[in-house]
Amino acid sequence: MELKITCIPGDGIGPEIVGEARKVLDAVAAKYGHVIHYTDILMGGASIDACGVPLTEEAIATAKSADAVLMGSIGGDTSTSPWYKLPPNLRPEAGLLAIRKALNLFANLRPAVLYDELTGACPLKEEIAAAGFDMMIMRELTGGLYFGERRTTESDGVKTAVDTLVYNENEIRRIAVKGFEIARKRRGKVTSVDKANVLDSSRLWRQVVEEVAGDYPEVTLEHMLVDNCAMQLVKDPAQFDVILTENMFGDILSDEASMVTGSIGMLASASLNDTKFGLYEPSHGSAPDIAGKDIANPIATVLSAAMMLRYSFDLDTEADAIEQAVKQVLKEGYRTSDIMSEGCTPVGCRQMGDLLAERI
Ligand code: IPM
Ligand code: MG
Repeated sequence: MELKITCIPGDGIGPEIVGEARKVLDAVAAKYGHVIHYTDILMGGASIDACGVPLTEEAIATAKSADAVLMGSIGGDTSTSPWYKLPPNLRPEAGLLAIRKALNLFANLRPAVLYDELTGACPLKEEIAAAGFDMMIMRELTGGLYFGERRTTESDGVKTAVDTLVYNENEIRRIAVKGFEIARKRRGKVTSVDKANVLDSSRLWRQVVEEVAGDYPEVTLEHMLVDNCAMQLVKDPAQFDVILTENMFGDILSDEASMVTGSIGMLASASLNDTKFGLYEPSHGSAPDIAGKDIANPIATVLSAAMMLRYSFDLDTEADAIEQAVKQVLKEGYRTSDIMSEGCTPVGCRQMGDLLAERI
């Protein structure tokens, strides 16, 4: 099969981790007889430095012409980088929001899994960690507070800032359908998270999710308020299968879920539209403090590449091979510094990529 992949190395550790993911993808291509065509585009700070804007129209067009996009990370140190002296719409993150919108990537999938080999890194009580967990956070990605109207005004010397949280029923329905479709292939449970005791947008969310649930009798639906969900994630994460939620709640809960795995450097993500096209990126940021030191953990990006093979190319065997390679390397005791524990073998970013590629 021929795979057209656009890569966004981005900023900070982005170029290093994308490099290692490509190494692993190349090993997959060699073993299973595929041909991969890569094209790089700039986004975030790298694009600001080269083109003056965080994402150009040409970059969007290149991304659209591919089958899938593999991204590293974007952004810099918000207190020291000159990128953060620019107006908000010209900062690195604006590029990421713009590509999500331009490619209509409304469904963000963020799996949070506690690997057996890494239970020692889980910050939860031993009996909770022992139960393990494997959840999929489905975050709506192109609506809500992130894309509603916003403004800051000043009247009589008093500044007022407004952000609006808007959802129409179609936006809710399409992400709900994705959530139920994914749940039926997993353990058949959807927890829809909202703040329906306060927000109108949440009451509409709940109503539409109920309607969609009617088409999936084999999937169990429960509703949970977002504050309770934040609590349940540390109290009993094993109860969750698919968490379905709006943009801002999903942003916050997915960071929390990743932290309870003890290793944000392990967590992949996929952002999908209505077609097979998707953008795949690690859930973590650009970690400018460790950039260029060959110590970043490339596993989240490698696992994002596996999600790409699974969701955009239907190459399940190849995706399984990558996930198996990750488990194997962990079982053999190799660790980057973020997941290091006693008795294990420390490795850098490049060596981790080599080990994974060898095990494909
Ligand atoms: C994420 C990030 C982004 C978001 C930022 C960088 C704009 O935190 O992907 O979760 O808030 O969506
Ligand atoms: Mg976030």
